[in-house]
Amino acid sequence: MRVLRLRRALGTLLALGVLGASASCTAARGDDARGGGEHRAALTPFERLLPAPASARAAGPGYAVGPGTVIRTSRGSGEEVRRVGELLAEQLRRPTGLPLPVVDGALGDGIRLRIDEDAQGVGEEGYRLESRPDGVTLTARTPAGLFHAGQTLRQLLPVAGPGTVPGGEITDAPRFAYRGAMVDVARHFFTVEQVKRYVDQLAQYKVNTLHVHLTDDQGWRLAIDSWPRLAEYGGGSEVGGGPGGHWTKAEYRDLVAYAGERYVELVPEIDMPGHVNAALASYAELTCDGKAPARYTGVKVGFSSLCVGKERTYEFIDQVLGELAELTPGRYIHIGGDEAHSTPAADYASFMDRAQEVVARHGKTVVAWHQLSAARPAPGAVLQYWGHDRTPAAEKTRVATAAGAGNPVILSPADRLYLDMKYDQATKPGLAWAGVVPVKRSYSWDPGAYLPGLPESAVLGVEAPLWTETIATRADWEFMAFPRLLSLAELGWSPAGSLDWDTYSRRLAAQGPFLDAQDITFHRAPDVPWQ
Ligand code: ACM
Repeated sequence: MRVLRLRRALGTLLALGVLGASASCTAARGDDARGGGEHRAALTPFERLLPAPASARAAGPGYAVGPGTVIRTSRGSGEEVRRVGELLAEQLRRPTGLPLPVVDGALGDGIRLRIDEDAQGVGEEGYRLESRPDGVTLTARTPAGLFHAGQTLRQLLPVAGPGTVPGGEITDAPRFAYRGAMVDVARHFFTVEQVKRYVDQLAQYKVNTLHVHLTDDQGWRLAIDSWPRLAEYGGGSEVGGGPGGHWTKAEYRDLVAYAGERYVELVPEIDMPGHVNAALASYAELTCDGKAPARYTGVKVGFSSLCVGKERTYEFIDQVLGELAELTPGRYIHIGGDEAHSTPAADYASFMDRAQEVVARHGKTVVAWHQLSAARPAPGAVLQYWGHDRTPAAEKTRVATAAGAGNPVILSPADRLYLDMKYDQATKPGLAWAGVVPVKRSYSWDPGAYLPGLPESAVLGVEAPLWTETIATRADWEFMAFPRLLSLAELGWSPAGSLDWDTYSRRLAAQGPFLDAQDITFHRAPDVPWQ
């Protein structure tokens, strides 16, 4: 068992200044002497923020958002800040029921968005939020920081109707640069509209990356002009024999832009050299024996491989990854590399050498599942660790060693962050090969002290994948993701010292009404004191 070094909840919150005025300390003690979580006083808006901010201090009266409230951006801050203001207005109009026009001019009452390139303590993605009777000022070095400030502001207002942003100040910045989720649209096909809905949900909790698992044995989901049968034929299947589907390039571009406006970077994955049956079924020339297999609708893994000895294979990956790089403004292309059980180890290593070269030639940085550490990770290639408590120590050590040699690590422990693992044995959708993952387990670990020999400085961040072998509907997707996605959000953003299940579970419970208001299906986990 991993021993967590967590500070006491109350001490931490006081140290962070989250409890602020002594009045709220008194309230937190309450009249009820029974002391059970469900009998404690309700959290104040500053206390219930999720992810917890780096520091918050309640002070004095706040700003009442009302019919006259405007959102202010100044022309000098540029078009992008204006757009962040428009998006914030859109997000606040429905819950508040107010018009919230966006106006030019930083001076005057209202919600003010300011860029200050010298702002202290906020980094590239953080922000300062100050609330006083004359307004709320959001300050950041970048538009991304202002966007995140806006998401905090949403949580400081009531679920429905206008309200008062409590007086005080927040200074906030993320712990990790990479805070990600993944969705597998290959095992079951999902539309771009559904993925956009997820982008909104991620962005709301300051998750800044969406890894899209675009291809697998059961389906190829993105149109590639130079190999059209991949999507046209290879996209026409999915687990269970449904019709499958694929995204056009225009749809993909639209998704990239939508996510980008919400400061979510897409990381597209073409999984190789295994997990490629849909590609082999589409093009016989990609197989070693020249015979295309049938399309596959089961859930086995590890049976397919690209033909490592054939030059045509490398023309294929060059053209596919080239077209993908052209669609990708982001930094990364994920090339999979997991479960290549049908590719001999030496072939795997030589294939991954060439695949990594192709990604570099197209100007992108490689991300691969951590099996790449058993081959030759390119300088700077990012390893995504998906092991669990029973993963052999030697495999963990290999990842830590690669990190020491300059390969940053994204942590996605399957028995913590795989959103497709069942909450408990009674959970209907989902798998349990890594164990069941109750909400508390998804939250109660420290990414900075997780893998032996892997220092926090080598951890790029955390990611919560959702594999869809058993998930075919939006309701099941959301039920498995929520509320465990919020564990990911907090582990990625909040300071290590504020990680504490007792207070977290109360803050999580306070998110219930926000999730309900957005019609998000979620698991009312019994380990959380829902109101
Ligand atoms: C994986 O779960 N095969 C990365």
